[in-house]
Amino acid sequence: MCGIIGYTGAARALPILIEGIELLSYRGYDSAGVALEESGRLRVEKDKGRIGELAPRWEAAKLQGTTGIGHTRWATHGPPNRQNAHPQTDASGELAVVHNGILENDLALREELERAGVRFTSDTDTEIVAHLFARAFEGDGPAGHNTADPVAAARLIFERCRGHFALVLLHARLPGTLIALRRGSPLLVGLGVGENLIASDVKALAGHADRVIELAEDEIAVVRRDEVHVYDAQGREVTKSSRPVGQREQVVGKGGFPHFMLKEIHEQPERLYELLAGRVDAARGVVRLDEVHLTRADWRAVTRIDLVASGTAHYASLYGAYVLEALAGIPCRAIAAAEYEARSPVLGPDVLVVAVSQSGETADTKGALELARQRKARTLAVLNVRDSAIGRMTDNLVDIHAGPEISVASTKVYTGMAGALLLLALRAAQERGCGAEHLSALAPWLSRLPDLVREAVGRAEAVRVIARRLDGTRNMLFLGRGPDAATAFEGALKMKELSYVHAEGYAAGEMKHGPIALVDHDLVTVAVATPGPWRERMLANVREVRAREGPVILLAADGDVEAAKVADLVLRVPETNHWLAPLVNIVPLQLLAYETARRRGCDIDQPRNLAKTVTVQ
Ligand code: BG6
Repeated sequence: MCGIIGYTGAARALPILIEGIELLSYRGYDSAGVALEESGRLRVEKDKGRIGELAPRWEAAKLQGTTGIGHTRWATHGPPNRQNAHPQTDASGELAVVHNGILENDLALREELERAGVRFTSDTDTEIVAHLFARAFEGDGPAGHNTADPVAAARLIFERCRGHFALVLLHARLPGTLIALRRGSPLLVGLGVGENLIASDVKALAGHADRVIELAEDEIAVVRRDEVHVYDAQGREVTKSSRPVGQREQVVGKGGFPHFMLKEIHEQPERLYELLAGRVDAARGVVRLDEVHLTRADWRAVTRIDLVASGTAHYASLYGAYVLEALAGIPCRAIAAAEYEARSPVLGPDVLVVAVSQSGETADTKGALELARQRKARTLAVLNVRDSAIGRMTDNLVDIHAGPEISVASTKVYTGMAGALLLLALRAAQERGCGAEHLSALAPWLSRLPDLVREAVGRAEAVRVIARRLDGTRNMLFLGRGPDAATAFEGALKMKELSYVHAEGYAAGEMKHGPIALVDHDLVTVAVATPGPWRERMLANVREVRAREGPVILLAADGDVEAAKVADLVLRVPETNHWLAPLVNIVPLQLLAYETARRRGCDIDQPRNLAKTVTVQ
């Protein structure tokens, strides 16, 4: 979705807003803007484009104010252009507002305001807030809100608007003051020395604040450089505690890599090491997940597990469903979170709903978990960002410890999530009395996993050679079987996200029931055929493609001579146990997507139309 930032202090606000927008642009980057208060009036600069292009123009405009707001956008209402960029203003231009989220009753409110004579200048739902707030502040709003009191005007927004919204407002007649509202979308206040900030994400505070206040549902904050007041939706002041900005929330650089994505691919061995550290005790035959508080009786009462997630997290969950059902003997299904409610899931205390998410803020996944809680299911979250909305919604947590992931296309978090779900499967098996044999079989491989992944990451040159052969390729098919069907889906997603090649992932057995119609010499197929119960059938599928002149890139284990005979090109990976292989096999596919995109000059860390965290349903 979008990223919002506000600053009030002694320093010139513009450079701080620009840095905040840069750090938030993983949330959306099709347009950006700022508004600063200067000697009793507002100066607004905004347009379509990336912050890198816009910032020099704003600097040239010599904006001097020490209080301001900023925004980076992922369009939902109206195309990316100057009118629809934020900040949006009211008719007088004295009030500016930035917004992350969606108003669900925007059409009705817009019509009501147009009937009242308001002329809109944008397609956005956000402009509605500007007019509603300004009219209340001016005394043209409904009774009880006409007091030139920002809190009263803010309360009106809570009363009249439905949906998700984090808002920051700046009014020319409230110098040095920022007004913040939170409902649904994350928003926090950063406490500095002689300065205070408001941001969608702690990362945007960039060292200007060492403590933060997380705003809760339907809270209003009035922020000045030396004071912060928080009110509930009834206008009553509430006492808020603050917490220190954690080490893991600090700003991260590219560490000498050309892109965050390549850096994050290379981080996977260390991150997997951290995921496993202290959790697998092969000697005692136990898996420890200290923040999973389900008892033996709880685990034995579970009759089904639903894994709810979106995007890459959904494909990690697909892998999770294989290992949870096979190792723990619990019926398990991975469901795209956006579809969960639509399938009216049968839920109750015998069902465990596991939300899997990098950010912990994805609205679809949050919605699915909320449904599970309402229906009294047991819940658990597998997360990378524990201080998140989903993290606060469940008592059971597996923190994957992958560290900040900046690149929009997820890599190290995929292997982290898949690894965490494998640990959860082993723990569930342990509690249900069938874990010992699985753990003793897998523990030796688990301890080697970081090194196996390091080995795969180290083979980037072989991937570069293959990527050259993809120049001009427009359509691809990714095939896998068993848990590697998830590898095929995730590999195809990476290729789509990064290089805009139309790539489809398919469970290979399904291919002959339809997609095989696509096969010809222009369609490149990537097939995952590493050792395991499904390798023979995979090679049979590869032969079916080759029989129709389809070029094949085969993922095969070291020393698999037969593989070289059935495919045009072979990508080698170190051999491992077939339950762990998906965590190794995904690495060359991550690198293939990266290299293909790099050769096509695509924006690796911020692909078009995407955002790292989508906080709207
Ligand atoms: C999308 C991201 O917006 O959200 C994907 O572009 C991600 O990379 C998906 O997988 C789900 O996000 P999360 O934070 O819930 O894992």
